[in-house]
Amino acid sequence: DKIHMVEQILSEFRLNKEELKEVMERMQREMDRGLRIETHEEASVKMLPTYVCSTPEGSEVGDFLALDLGGTNFRVMLVKVGEDEERSWKVETKNQMYSIPEDAMTGTAEMLFDYIAECMSDFLDRHHIKHKKLPLGFTFSFPVRHEDIDKGILLNWTKGFKASGAEGNNVVGLLRDAIKRRGDFEMDVVAMVNDTVATMISCYYEDRSCEVGMIVGTGCNACYMEEMRTVELVEGEEGRMCVNTEWGAFGDNGELEEFRLEYDRVVDETSINPGHQLYEKLISGKYMGELVRLVLVKLVNEDLLFNGEASEQLKTRGSFETRYVSQVESDTGDRKQIYNILSSLGVLPSELDCDIVRLVCESVSTRSAHMCGAGLAGVINLMRERRSQEALAITVGVDGSVYKLHPCFRDRFHKIVRDLTPHCEIAFIQSEEGSGRGAALISAVACKMAACML
Ligand code: BG6
Ligand code: GLC
Repeated sequence: DKIHMVEQILSEFRLNKEELKEVMERMQREMDRGLRIETHEEASVKMLPTYVCSTPEGSEVGDFLALDLGGTNFRVMLVKVGEDEERSWKVETKNQMYSIPEDAMTGTAEMLFDYIAECMSDFLDRHHIKHKKLPLGFTFSFPVRHEDIDKGILLNWTKGFKASGAEGNNVVGLLRDAIKRRGDFEMDVVAMVNDTVATMISCYYEDRSCEVGMIVGTGCNACYMEEMRTVELVEGEEGRMCVNTEWGAFGDNGELEEFRLEYDRVVDETSINPGHQLYEKLISGKYMGELVRLVLVKLVNEDLLFNGEASEQLKTRGSFETRYVSQVESDTGDRKQIYNILSSLGVLPSELDCDIVRLVCESVSTRSAHMCGAGLAGVINLMRERRSQEALAITVGVDGSVYKLHPCFRDRFHKIVRDLTPHCEIAFIQSEEGSGRGAALISAVACKMAACML
């Protein structure tokens, strides 16, 4: 019958433990290649040094401005950093969200950074602090090759950004130039960090075992504290440095070919960066809804759904938003929520149609959680090997809309990670407003001692 045939088609999304182990091991191999000088260039997982280190240095106190660019929202924040006996603390005082217009995302780098400076100017006006020259921490959630904590070039855009003239350039320089061009305020840019790093740092202040940061949102990525001696791209042997894995690009050298399905190939081919970020495209929120839509269209074409007829909307790329996946799977069983979403897309579903759509969402989001879990298990097992510990107790700081808003992603993900990491005790904590606070905290330390922190 129908359901059986649907399940047949969806079974391709299921990965057994052996397969997930294989993904994990390949991820580890690629991480290792990314860390080594002689294989770094060709490795798909870039393992970028962040210049955020484990040397305790103490931090400055006071007001910091934080920018957060690269997730769903662009934000400007004012963060107060203070100190008690043993640790810095932070209070987020003001927070303003700005939407990035499409033409700023895909125009020139100057347009994008002028827009950012304009938002900063607006923020400073609103809070009557334009006269102050504040230190600034910049959370910039793209692959950056750092030369120092406040200097690094953008390797390539990801997640639908495309502003020309930014790749290959120092991002902090682009920001400083835009601020100079405006000329109506001054700012001291002291640190630039990836969102995974900001998330890890913000959680570190609540839990000193937090040495991993992960994002599952628009994009997907992780960072962790690696032994300095194995970070070959940076001189020095002592202590640890945070490495931004940029694992979203895993698979770009063909490591995921037998796991990629016809839908994955369409998502990739119609994306702004075909051939890139292939692991991320199996997992993150920018692509999840579209994957579901492509499966639905396939089922319609096989005459297994909606009487074999798709609406114009459903045939339109991007019409099935990732938040619908969460909503469909949150349906309590009366199918109301599913029905409403589908009717808003111009189809009138039967009860069976609703159930099939739910199965599709579950298949896609479960694979996402499992694939992502294999990656994190790879990171954690690697840390355990490095530290030659019998048992590793570690905390992972997490952020991102998929992790936070999907009703089941989190549990499915935790389960797989734990299944794949024997002898590890893993705690997960969600970061709240992590990027602003994390960026401010790193800036506070950077202000005191250029470069090394935690
Ligand atoms: C936010 C962080 O909460 O989560 C950002 O402040 C991060 O730095 C974002 O990029 C990731 O999630 P999403 O879903 O917005 O891409
Ligand atoms: C993309 C970016 C990465 C970021 C992630 C989550 O993968 O390349 O830098 O951390 O999205 O926002």
